[in-house]
Amino acid sequence: MERILVTPRSLTATPHPAVEALRAQGFDLVYSTPNALPDESELCRLLPGTVGWLAGVEPVSTRALGSADALRVVSRNGSGVDNLPLPLLAERGITLCRADGGNAAGVAELSVALALAALRQIPFADAGIKAGGWPRRRGREIRGRSVGVVGCGAVGGEAARLFAALGADILAFDPARPPLDIAPERVRWVDLATLFREADIVTFHCPIMPDGRPLLDRAALAAMKSDAVVVNTARAGLVDEAALLEALEAERLFAYATDVFAEEPPRSLVLAGHSRVIATSHIGGFTEESVDRVTALAVENLVRALRA
Ligand SMILES: NC(=O)c1ccc[n+]([C@@H]2O[C@H](COP(=O)([O-])OP(=O)(O)OC[C@H]3O[C@@H](n4cnc5c(N)ncnc54)[C@H](O)[C@@H]3O)[C@@H](O)[C@H]2O)c1
Repeated sequence: MERILVTPRSLTATPHPAVEALRAQGFDLVYSTPNALPDESELCRLLPGTVGWLAGVEPVSTRALGSADALRVVSRNGSGVDNLPLPLLAERGITLCRADGGNAAGVAELSVALALAALRQIPFADAGIKAGGWPRRRGREIRGRSVGVVGCGAVGGEAARLFAALGADILAFDPARPPLDIAPERVRWVDLATLFREADIVTFHCPIMPDGRPLLDRAALAAMKSDAVVVNTARAGLVDEAALLEALEAERLFAYATDVFAEEPPRSLVLAGHSRVIATSHIGGFTEESVDRVTALAVENLVRALRA
């Protein structure tokens, strides 16, 4: 019986009917530890003999992939593939599939939620009231603000549409310049330096750079408005977390709202614990609807590629 390994936390925490249906198609299913990212040793234990892998965001080392002696297809239940050793996959002739766009609505809505939470300082008020206080920080509105969207693919395009619907003007940056479903007078394509300089809110929706260099580094932060908000639902490597923390400490940035961390969960709470940082636990695509869509897509991609 051909074996499929299932590792995304959204699928190990609660087995999904679209995955379980693979048993009826003659596949043997193996799940990694529920609700946790498998580490290298767990992958090395589970990958031998596996032909298909429904993979999450766990970092995959060359050693782990080396133990996958029968692997033919890796199907991501999302769009990011920066956790995988891509050259080695290509060298081994292992097919890689992405569930493109399946969780775009969930991630885009979280980006808007984080921007609103930051602009109105909602977690600050909530935590203060729960601690017996009545703290109030003056907020700002999205209507009429400039929202810089870095990466305008499935998630960024939908986030731009939602921000524009709330009355924001969009500053868009994406080398591919995909079409956007927004009235042209609400969007201006700009270079990255202009976006960082002019945006009130910067929201990231692109992959990390091939060389790992952060797009939002110390120099880019210095050029930003001192009351700007940065939202990151893409990848932590897009920003220099240390420089961000310095900017927050020096009150050169209003807030950082992030769903992603260099290390997940973060061992140090210096950044996540800052009162102007709003942190969520990589939940962008973790909604009922996005999990359903992305799982159906990932399973479909996996079976199609295994049978090709
Ligand atoms: N937080 C979450 O749960 C979650 C879920 C899904 C995706 N993501 C992340 O969100 C990001 C976007 O995902 P997506 O599904 O929209 O991917 P996508 O491939 O549809 O879009 C990415 C876009 O980024 C553009 N791009 C590439 N390099 C760029 C650069 N240097 N500057 C600006 N734009 C650039 C591409 O041209 C493309 O249009 C990815 O980083 C992905 O890993 C996070």
